[in-house]
Amino acid sequence: MPAAPSPPPSAVVADVAWVNGLAAIRSLGRQGVRALAVDHRPSALGFRSRYATPVIAPDPVADEDGFVAALARLGETLAGPVPAFATHDEHVNVLARRHADIGPAFRPCTPEWDVLAAIQSKRHQLDVAAAAGVPVPGTRHPRSGAEARAAAEELGYPVLVKPSDPVGFKRLYNRQAFRCQSGAEVETAYAQAEAFAPMVQEYLPGGDDELYTLGSYLTAGGEALGVFTGRKLRQTRRHMGVCRVAEAVWVPEVAEHGLALLRALRFHGISQVEFKRDPRTGEYKLIEVNPRLWQWHGLAAACGVDLTHIAYLDLVGRPPAPARMTNEGRRWAITFMSGTRHAVQRLPYTDALLARDDPRPGLVQLARVARGGVRAARGRAAAGTAIARLTRQVERHG
Ligand SMILES: Nc1ncnc2c1ncn2[C@@H]1O[C@H](COP(=O)(O)OP(=O)(O)OP(=O)(O)O)[C@@H](O)[C@H]1O
Ligand SMILES: [Mg+2]
Repeated sequence: MPAAPSPPPSAVVADVAWVNGLAAIRSLGRQGVRALAVDHRPSALGFRSRYATPVIAPDPVADEDGFVAALARLGETLAGPVPAFATHDEHVNVLARRHADIGPAFRPCTPEWDVLAAIQSKRHQLDVAAAAGVPVPGTRHPRSGAEARAAAEELGYPVLVKPSDPVGFKRLYNRQAFRCQSGAEVETAYAQAEAFAPMVQEYLPGGDDELYTLGSYLTAGGEALGVFTGRKLRQTRRHMGVCRVAEAVWVPEVAEHGLALLRALRFHGISQVEFKRDPRTGEYKLIEVNPRLWQWHGLAAACGVDLTHIAYLDLVGRPPAPARMTNEGRRWAITFMSGTRHAVQRLPYTDALLARDDPRPGLVQLARVARGGVRAARGRAAAGTAIARLTRQVERHG
């Protein structure tokens, strides 16, 4: 009897709490690859996917050694090579920096740690971009609050005080930067961001729909096996947030500049390069490079550029032919989110959560949004009762 064909190697997706992890799980699962979904939260949405094999492991931010040990134990049970993807900088960094401890079975989807570590500095990204002829926003690197104020006055308000070393900043301040309108605001922001090498950067005008992305996968030899471009239409928070609605649009300049920058940075793997089109000049100026899966890579997959699967194939030694982007104009949205207006788009579009072949994560999200709505309504009712009581007291006692 012929031997049964051995199953394809599994892949790890680290941090699957939200839509980017879920999209990676689905990309793998739909191609018959077992997705080992790693997270420290039993509530992680990715765990609800029919394509996920949930693996609870410590949070690498709180317990890096515990995370590394959990992956090393997992690796002992697997036949390698096991491509490893991550959706957040903290996980990307640990996978690369601790590769030797995590084990040889794993194939992180990034360059070696020394190359990646440099890329995680926004200052380095901007310097390399400028040297490669890629336009960048006016940026200064002050060494004190007073220097930051002087830089802001030179650049003109509004400015962003933004960490050059962002890891940990968002967890601390629940935002990516401080948008400042005055010298006093700049000095306060500088003091708060001091541990993260704060930069002062001109805030490029124009709406959030001017934020363009190159999403790509580059092999270790520098070949682009998947190239996607698109833009945001709406963010979760205006001026500075994460993507809520996006659209596929092919912009050759974004692709060319982004790929030139990635090569100049010696990057390989999956990444997002974000630009903002400066409406004053029409130039696409670098916002940042994210050396990992980003929030809305599910749109690239819906446009024929399934970066997770392309990377998977390359990392297990079966590189596919370069993919071509299709479906221009296709949209992606997180349609329902707690406490915000819906984002229903014209059909057909890709919802980040609702999927016919994998309904549970979408249903869980809908239930969470509904519960949030009930809680908010109860909160409003309680506030209304308190106000009515206060009004009665004021009326009674003058
Ligand atoms: N110079 C700028 N001008 C206008 N908007 C900007 C500028 N820099 C950043 N932003 C806005 O702030 C958002 C976050 O900035 P940035 O991407 O640099 O931070 P981050 O912490 O790396 O974010 P992420 O979590 O997406 O990786 C951008 O998506 C954009 O909306
Ligand atoms: Mg970033």
